[in-house]
Amino acid sequence: MLLQKHVILIGPMGAGKSTIGRFISEQLTCPFVDLDKVIENRAGASIPWIFDIEGEQGFRERETAALDEVLREPPQIIATGGGCILKPENQKMLQQGITVYLVTSIEQQLERTAKDKNRPLLQAENPEDILAGLAQTRNPIYERLADIEVVTNCKPPKLVAQEILQHLSEPNHENSSS
Ligand code: S3P
Repeated sequence: MLLQKHVILIGPMGAGKSTIGRFISEQLTCPFVDLDKVIENRAGASIPWIFDIEGEQGFRERETAALDEVLREPPQIIATGGGCILKPENQKMLQQGITVYLVTSIEQQLERTAKDKNRPLLQAENPEDILAGLAQTRNPIYERLADIEVVTNCKPPKLVAQEILQHLSEPNHENSSS
């Protein structure tokens, strides 16, 4: 399958966007890019450092610049950070691609992010409350932007990737040319 458009994975922290994105890119033999890694490479610093020094607002500005940059490249699989859908200008840019929303329960998110020190928003006393609050504001935005929705809970990432590939091969996504 030759990609005609970017395939953009959206969804909350711990949804498996990077792992699933890598599987899809292997299957399609097309490039994969992790937006958080682009931000870190451009900044020469880690995400916790950026949040510490520049605050969330500084991070969001870098995120918008990185999104704009990767969307200018030929079609690829893009894993975004959970908050990338917040700014209206990002929402507009995301619509250039096929957006795939990885639907994930809070329970599953907690399991997958439990020992992670790289997500500044979760370095709080009660990450469950934080995730619930974020889900309340963000889930409606993910839903609105999604061209494809796939539930990831308890499923192996390879299986989720297969489901997404199946959706992408459907003619209504106009993504294939063989
Ligand atoms: C964030 C999610 C993170 C990263 C940053 C902020 C968010 O990416 O961009 O810590 O606002 O949800 P992942 O969704 O890949 O964890």
